[in-house]
Amino acid sequence: MYVAQPIEWTDRGVVILDQRRLPAEEVSYTYTDYRDVAKAIGEMVIRGAPAIGVAAAMGAALGALHSSAKSVGALESEFAEICATLTKTRPTAVDLFWALERMKRRFAELTAQTSDLTRIKQGMVEEAQQVHLEKRATDEAIGRFGAEFMPREGQVMTQCNAGALATGGIGTALGVIRVAFEQGRKLHVLVPETRPYLQGARLTAWELHKAGIPLTLITDNMVGHFLKSGKVGAIVTGADRIAANGDTANKIGTYQIAVLAKENNVPFYVAAPISTFDLSIPDGEHIPIEERSAAEVTHLQGVRIAPDVHAAHPAFDVTPARYIAAIFTERGVARPPYDESLRALAHTPQPVGLRM
Ligand code: MRU
Repeated sequence: MYVAQPIEWTDRGVVILDQRRLPAEEVSYTYTDYRDVAKAIGEMVIRGAPAIGVAAAMGAALGALHSSAKSVGALESEFAEICATLTKTRPTAVDLFWALERMKRRFAELTAQTSDLTRIKQGMVEEAQQVHLEKRATDEAIGRFGAEFMPREGQVMTQCNAGALATGGIGTALGVIRVAFEQGRKLHVLVPETRPYLQGARLTAWELHKAGIPLTLITDNMVGHFLKSGKVGAIVTGADRIAANGDTANKIGTYQIAVLAKENNVPFYVAAPISTFDLSIPDGEHIPIEERSAAEVTHLQGVRIAPDVHAAHPAFDVTPARYIAAIFTERGVARPPYDESLRALAHTPQPVGLRM
């Protein structure tokens, strides 16, 4: 089954698929400067919470690798600057900060062990590659746990793109659907287009189509109509940040889907790695919501579709925990009350091969 590769570490540099140009063109760029990786994250060349984390880790490794510092001290201050630049790219998805904290920890370990700059740089490259490898294993595990909750046959719905393009593995929400489909469940996926950036229409529809999973693309304002039909067995979305009480930030439009799901007795599930948990914040009120350019609302692929008026573009919204039936992670399934279940999962030993 086809799996997209949004990002790859190579000897030439970090190769990133330009998701802004999908589905029309499959174009990749090779990055050798961490500043360009930071720009690529900010400009959505690569997007999706876990994939942003992988890109940040690789950007940090790239910065260390190409540093001209002649001492550990000089490399240390340069590395702090590299991480600060990458930190400022996008505010909502916590995977970005998680990945950079992990790279900083590894940097501190390496510099405590050796003053050989070549070994330190090599260690950073290995850590970034390990982050990517682990995302792949994580997605597979989330997929296995979540697939059990999918119907034997019938319609399921998702939102935005939480597929391979968004993680560098098989995807979180789409990973669940993919595993369930491979198990023989006869699923048909309803894909809301996800205005204004059209991650559903451009990316999820593209991924599912290439993987041979049946789908129907719908506009965002058709969600209620389809949920009311009684034919949708489950909804599964990804997440950008999950607060300690289970409130979950995800792509704008997710909240209204969750409310409509409750109204129509359709279970609403979230699929996300533990790295998406932010147990330092009590609830969704504390999640910073990215405001993107209003031009993405007034224009569609560069073509103006509205007069020159004020437009708003919050890129994410928060779904209160009470609408979420379960959260699938690589360590198991969290159920309400989430204050307890998320904390318990966060302290569950990591499966072999995964280091957090
Ligand atoms: O703005 P984006 O495209 O980065 O937003 C992506 C989403 O909201 C995804 O649903 C989320 O990151 C989960 S991806 C596995």
